[in-house]
Amino acid sequence: MSTKKYILAIDQGTTSTRSIVYDGNAEAIATERNEFEQHYPDRGWVEHNAEDIWRDAVTTAKDTLEKAKVGAGDITGIGITNQRETVVLWDRETGEPVYNAIVWQDRRTARFCDKLRADGTEGTIQSKTGLLIDPYFSASKLRWILDEVSGVRARAEAGKLAFGTIDSFLLWRLTGGKVHATDATNASRTQLMNIHTGEWDDELLKIFGIPRSVLPEIKSNSEIYGETDPKLFGKSIPIAGMAGDQQAALVGQACFEKGNVKSTYGTGCFMLFNTGEEAVKSENRMLTTIAYRLGGKTTYALEGAIFVAGAAIKWLRDGVGLIARASETDSMATRVPDSHGVYMVPGFVGLGAPHWDPDARGLICGLTLGSGAAHIARAALESVAYQTLDLAKAISQDGGGKTTGVRVDGGMAANDWFCQFLADMLEAPVSRPADLESTARGAAFLAGLATGVWSDTADIAKSWTEASRFEPKMDPALRKTLVAGWEEALARAKLKVA
Ligand code: G3P
Repeated sequence: MSTKKYILAIDQGTTSTRSIVYDGNAEAIATERNEFEQHYPDRGWVEHNAEDIWRDAVTTAKDTLEKAKVGAGDITGIGITNQRETVVLWDRETGEPVYNAIVWQDRRTARFCDKLRADGTEGTIQSKTGLLIDPYFSASKLRWILDEVSGVRARAEAGKLAFGTIDSFLLWRLTGGKVHATDATNASRTQLMNIHTGEWDDELLKIFGIPRSVLPEIKSNSEIYGETDPKLFGKSIPIAGMAGDQQAALVGQACFEKGNVKSTYGTGCFMLFNTGEEAVKSENRMLTTIAYRLGGKTTYALEGAIFVAGAAIKWLRDGVGLIARASETDSMATRVPDSHGVYMVPGFVGLGAPHWDPDARGLICGLTLGSGAAHIARAALESVAYQTLDLAKAISQDGGGKTTGVRVDGGMAANDWFCQFLADMLEAPVSRPADLESTARGAAFLAGLATGVWSDTADIAKSWTEASRFEPKMDPALRKTLVAGWEEALARAKLKVA
């Protein structure tokens, strides 16, 4: 293992962009992070300005290199990881997006998705893509831009426009418009790729009305895709790793064995269960997805996707002003002995797995005059653990077996109380590594694999260490009562209100 060289990971998430410099021992030596603006132009709509994303990717990368006192010439490779499914369509000549990026949380295509379901396409879509019909995925969002933004479909059909998820967009910009490619994990979330062949699929393109000319080339997760434009960092740097953030976290958590499972708590929560070379079809409304493609070999995962985890805490801070800082929820949750019968169902953008209900909405119930801010904060944290339990149950019914342990990461995983409550709900141990930035770490591993910093996945796995372990200890009767309350709250959140 080389210790002289460094890797730069760019982690472009839903609410912030961070760049981290790692050394050859996978130690993070400098980090820069910037939160960027969210746009909500209509009910259920969520957009990003792709130029904000580009600006922050470059400035955080430059700043972190400076902070680490590492020159571009010392970087063996860049690893890109990103919020998945979010769609950008840009002009191949000017590089300018034709519309804001439509974010994975955006629900505007719900009615189109209903129509697809009514047309009887769900079977074909699920068997080819491993995904269910939901506005979450890229295809219906891309179709929306093509149909709703004036002149765009004609320009796309004339070969003038390029589509990409955020990885492709950053790769295009970083290479000065020379490379239009994506990786297998990001492609597997567009709903346009057949996950069994690893290729874009004509039948899916037809269902969604997408011209093939806009699509990027699909590559593996670890290879040299291109070099950065020398104008950006003073010298060109190879871009050597790319993966959707949840798959990158799976790599960062060294979940390389069949049966390994990780759960990442960022804006949403995503549990991925490694199923090895088999693409297991879910009978319980989980997703089948590509875990990673390395050296021509594809590994699959079952995934449970919860749309709101950290976003619920952000809402307590920015939406209702109940807290000033996200970290306050930690002490608030422990200030009260329990949530006092208060439940939050954070269906702010509908509900993801296993419900897939785009019309469900958020709910706080069980309020009494004795309920206070601490109970609500605690209910928000608890809701994330209950949702994780729902995923674990579905994965276990899909043949994953009872959860024997989960590796957790992401912001909320720093909270000891939350990790303990999660272990209690899952009735399984929760393992926490020292470095909670598994997503960026995974991107660094992927770039380091392609540039000789690590030799193989076994070499990577050696640098994973458990820093804390939380064993279940709650009284089973209490747990049963709490879970029953959650199920009741969940049923209420699904009731339609005009
Ligand atoms: O599928 C959406 C996911 O990739 C977003 O991740 O980290 O922004 O919650 P995050």
